[in-house]
Amino acid sequence: MKSRFTLHSLSNHNKTHTSPILSLRDENNNGSLKNTFPDKYTISSLFQWASKILQVHGIDSPSLDAEVLLSNLLSCKRIDLYIHPDQPVEETVAMRYKESIQRRSQRLPLQYITNHAEFMSLDFYVDERVLIPRPETELLVEAVIKRAQILTHEIVIVDIGVGSGNIAITLAKKIDKARIFAIDISPDALAVAKINAQRHHVLDKITFLCGNIFQPLEGFGIESKVNFIVSNPPYVSSSEFNNLQKEVRDFEPYTALISGQDGLQMFKRIIANANTWLKPGGFITFEVGEKQARKVARLFAETRCFKKADLLKDYQHISRIVIAQMEEGRG
Ligand SMILES: C[S@@+](CC[C@H](N)C(=O)[O-])C[C@H]1O[C@@H](n2cnc3c(N)ncnc32)[C@H](O)[C@@H]1O
Repeated sequence: MKSRFTLHSLSNHNKTHTSPILSLRDENNNGSLKNTFPDKYTISSLFQWASKILQVHGIDSPSLDAEVLLSNLLSCKRIDLYIHPDQPVEETVAMRYKESIQRRSQRLPLQYITNHAEFMSLDFYVDERVLIPRPETELLVEAVIKRAQILTHEIVIVDIGVGSGNIAITLAKKIDKARIFAIDISPDALAVAKINAQRHHVLDKITFLCGNIFQPLEGFGIESKVNFIVSNPPYVSSSEFNNLQKEVRDFEPYTALISGQDGLQMFKRIIANANTWLKPGGFITFEVGEKQARKVARLFAETRCFKKADLLKDYQHISRIVIAQMEEGRG
């Protein structure tokens, strides 16, 4: 089964990208790339070396990744590389580039090397402590913002599995009246989320809590007051794990990916305990895996506490977001 958990170097590009810096004439590539690191460091010599190395290691978009890593180290735009191909590069930068390319050759995701991931046009710090935010998750955030617009008072939001903080922080920025509780079982993930909250100036709107699903909410007095429970939980089944892309399987946090034998454990546990926290008329908004949307909608229906769930499709026409509203008279 094709997993959603693939990582493209950059979501809008593909492997056919050919760099205008120079064409990849592979005159020296006779299979051995040992000792091919250039002795004169210019943008084009380093780039040519890097593209070949990444290509030989089977990276999907070698030229693009080589450009992104070089422009990141030079703190310039990719277009600037095209404009100044003969510009000399300092030795320290060249050495750091060499190391970056070696790490990428081992399939470390590009975003963990650059420590940047874009989400809803915001820049997030990421490293191996957190899942790299995916473009599909933006649909979840947009769905919540749309439904929050009609609310006039303070809007209480609980994000379960905060990771890098992409969902909680974007909601805090986009919804003025938001008061957010951001929960993760991983203290490491919370440390990254706090870096991002500080970066985006929303620390005062978010309470970060470490623990298992709703457990850390005890004592805040928000029972039956939550307007939105949002979650992009782990949803890969344990049997699917070995089929994941190497970048994902070997480098992204296991606890961010796997949820029991069927991949549905977190959805079941959140839905089963949501009654305590959700305000009547409040929403649960989930991101779900491929082929999970109907199953999750059925879990909501079985409780008889929710209206019929809405399913939203992602850019590949896969039902990706499930939104269910609690009946007004329940709770
Ligand atoms: C798929 S990642 C999502 C991260 C981020 N929200 C995003 O959209 O990119 C799931 C997150 O849930 C956290 N998690 C896993 N099990 C949990 C649990 N039982 N309670 C709270 N958080 C949990 C993981 O540590 C991970 O950070």
